Amino acid sequence: MKRLYKVAELPFIMCGIVGYVGAGTAAPILVRGLKRLEYRGYDSAGVATIAENVLLVEKDAGKVDELNAKLSLDRMPGNIGIAHTRWATHGAPSKVNAHPHTDCTRTVAVVHNGVLENFLQLRKELIDLNHNIVSKTDTEVVPHLIEDFMKRGMGFEEAFVNTVRRLEGSYALAAICLREPDLIMVARKEAPLIIGVGDGFNMIASDMTALIEMTNQMVFLHDGDAAAVRANGYKVFRVADGQIVERPVKTVALTVEMAEKQGHPHFMLKEIFEQPNSLRDALRTQREYVDLLAELLDKGRVVFLLGAGTSYNACLAGSYLFSAVARIPSYPVIASEFVANYGGAVGADTVILAVSQSGETADVLNALDFARMRACTILGLTNTVGSTLTRVSRAYVLQNSGPEIGVAATKTFTSQVLVLAQIALRLSRLRGKISQFEMDEFGHELSKIPKLVEEVLLTAPAKVKELAETLVNSPFLLILGRGMSVSTAYEGRLKVMELSYIPCIAYPSGESKHGPISVIEEKIPVIFVAPPDEFRKQNISSIMEMKARGAKIIVFGDKEDEELRSLADHYIGLPKTHPLLSPIIYTVPFQLLAYYLAVLKGYDPDKPRNLAKSVTVL
Ligand code: AGP
Ligand code: GLU
Repeated sequence: MKRLYKVAELPFIMCGIVGYVGAGTAAPILVRGLKRLEYRGYDSAGVATIAENVLLVEKDAGKVDELNAKLSLDRMPGNIGIAHTRWATHGAPSKVNAHPHTDCTRTVAVVHNGVLENFLQLRKELIDLNHNIVSKTDTEVVPHLIEDFMKRGMGFEEAFVNTVRRLEGSYALAAICLREPDLIMVARKEAPLIIGVGDGFNMIASDMTALIEMTNQMVFLHDGDAAAVRANGYKVFRVADGQIVERPVKTVALTVEMAEKQGHPHFMLKEIFEQPNSLRDALRTQREYVDLLAELLDKGRVVFLLGAGTSYNACLAGSYLFSAVARIPSYPVIASEFVANYGGAVGADTVILAVSQSGETADVLNALDFARMRACTILGLTNTVGSTLTRVSRAYVLQNSGPEIGVAATKTFTSQVLVLAQIALRLSRLRGKISQFEMDEFGHELSKIPKLVEEVLLTAPAKVKELAETLVNSPFLLILGRGMSVSTAYEGRLKVMELSYIPCIAYPSGESKHGPISVIEEKIPVIFVAPPDEFRKQNISSIMEMKARGAKIIVFGDKEDEELRSLADHYIGLPKTHPLLSPIIYTVPFQLLAYYLAVLKGYDPDKPRNLAKSVTVL
């Protein structure tokens, strides 16, 4: 399968936007497009069209079919329109927060995928200019900015471009305006946007699946591009300087099913490759909520980090971060063990940060029910606005990963660790336990993570695939790590086990002589998670210990460490990062290994046996 995108280009989809302008009636085409986007999960949807010089907007929380039945979306008049399926990042799923959003005069409608970093400042500016902002979303600042620029005498296109220049963050935007009822303005940065070129019509969408039934002629916009799209043509130009640019029209030979995976064979692989951009959005968590969580954590006499499965592994990484960066002791606890293990010891002075990408895991919610009865302070880290976890938390922060379809958690894990690192950094600033220099250095390391993961995704897949071919018939795997790498070893175990069904043992490598070493025989594969940290010497002695007993030595280590490489039968070289951030970089080869093992064994990596995406039963 020819990859449609290079890694860096691979779209990170927060959810979906669709637009149509042409001879036909827009609404039914838009609703069919929204239906095509349903596979990714969303919480709200809406449509805006222009008919007889009136801007019509219908939207609400809920599924497309329900909304269509309730609001007759596909019967809205007009031959131009835009539509949206929302994965909320700012503001719970509700009618007022659903897209499209309009300006004060209902002249402009906008739909948006992504996360606007500077919306609070823009919102304040607009309120000071007497704009009536009604939603809690970041997106709503966009139509009001367009309105404001038009008030100053600009046309719709110029006002749109000047608005986009004010935005910071990620966006795929589409806007329509009563002043130019034959024009859709679009722009993209770190969120996908495609023009579908038709005969007598043109479309825009964040995903090929919404276009493929209408046309196979597609123009893939680049970051920093904008376009003016009309029924009989379009022009693409750079937002920065208005320079017209040529983007080739590609004939896309994909079925709808393949288009859903952006040309990848499985959602899991698509989501692994989305991580550079999902991590960029993990760095765009809402500051005020990170600050609030840090303040509440700081007040706790005892702090628990609570989760299940992959989210527990993120909690484990978080506990190392909290103690190393913020000098705050925290207990990582498996949700189903919380009551038995700590139930008698918690009370009003206890703070619990629950980590759950779905926000619906029964083991987590059950533990929190108990904790709330004991007057504990409940905080949340989740990927799902409006989930139960967001409702039972005193405060929560969003990881902004976008919908994750594969049952195995991949991009949501790396984003959870990155958000926990930001909370740890905020805590350290609050507590003043590390120097300003150390804090600044750590903050700089955080910002480098998306690019480093991009490098891993460019260099590691081929080597990991070769490694998978040598492990596919292993009776079991032993995975060892020290310090922060224990969380990486545990996450690697879970990934490989849940996708390839190969039994995996994961241990702190310091423990191997207290037991695990007894399972080692000739050729048993042992994977060492060995980033360049303070444990290099101990890692080397653990490797020698296993080597002496005939184990097959596999090392995930620093790409420049030739001595370490020389000790391994297989070596996956990885880029340098701060040791406390190594789980993000070093988990990616485990995600790929699990994926390739599953495929080699003929299993479906998106739907591993016996597992559900969200375990909502105890
Ligand atoms: C991990 O790959 C699995 N999908 C599973 O362990 C998952 O992490 C666990 O069920 C917790 O889910 P949550 O993050 O939605 O709470
Ligand atoms: N950040 C916007 C919101 O929360 C858009 C989210 C999305 O991509 O669906 O409404």
